[in-house]
Amino acid sequence: MGAYIANAAAWQESFDRQQESYLPDREERLAAMLDAVDAATNGEPPRLLDLAGGTGTISLRTLTRFPGATATVVDQDPVLLALARASLGGRASVVAADLNDPAWVDALPHRDFDAVLTATAMHWLPGPRLTALYTEIRGLLRTGGIFVNADQMPDDGLPTFGKRLLDREDEKRDARYAAGAALSWSAWWSHVRTDASFAELIAERDRIYPPGRSGHTEWLPPISWHLEALRSAGFSETGTLWRGGPDAAVIGVR
Ligand SMILES: C[S@@+](CC[C@H](N)C(=O)[O-])C[C@H]1O[C@@H](n2cnc3c(N)ncnc32)[C@H](O)[C@@H]1O
Repeated sequence: MGAYIANAAAWQESFDRQQESYLPDREERLAAMLDAVDAATNGEPPRLLDLAGGTGTISLRTLTRFPGATATVVDQDPVLLALARASLGGRASVVAADLNDPAWVDALPHRDFDAVLTATAMHWLPGPRLTALYTEIRGLLRTGGIFVNADQMPDDGLPTFGKRLLDREDEKRDARYAAGAALSWSAWWSHVRTDASFAELIAERDRIYPPGRSGHTEWLPPISWHLEALRSAGFSETGTLWRGGPDAAVIGVR
């Protein structure tokens, strides 16, 4: 058994801490997303799709809050998927698929989800692909089901002050990295590479995300772009579910 499997909870925790270095409000944002799921199902256990779910944090929080929920995690990172499998055990379906390929929907164990949730991930996709993905996601939801995308989404009304907010966040984060208070994304991955039990998974990952090349776009459209894309995808209601500084969660109801 790989050492990382025995230590899955610790790796899960360290991934969460690393993500919180970018987003201190991560748990608050996640709770707001789950409040929306609760409203969509009237408190019944949801059928959840955790899109670009990484280590499966959203699924873990969902299963804790709604015992009896069914969860499906989709991602393409072999290391993060292995950690998701290890920490979710048999409680979720864990699916490897590339969201840039429209055939990703064929890899799902079922359709008719109550909720599709995604966080800190859609900025990895180019704009035209994200527009198409919103339509594909709508097609996976039951009528009345919800899609929530939480990501960095600047407020259109604050073109210069919003930039100032972001710059200050970057400065404070860099100070925490310099002081060793938290790991950055790249430092976390360097740390993973020090554990030999990840070696095969890392080799697989390097083929998908070649080292030295950023896996994501630097394109971070304002929230109005997302709301318009959701409307164009055919969601009947769209709006802002949550905002914390430059980060926000948009919701579309099928
Ligand atoms: C910053 S992580 C966030 C993970 C998780 N949503 C969370 O909040 O903890 C971004 C995730 O998006 C995934 N991702 C990016 N592009 C993808 C693609 N084309 N197909 C599948 N997953 C993708 C990455 O592999 C990574 O796990």
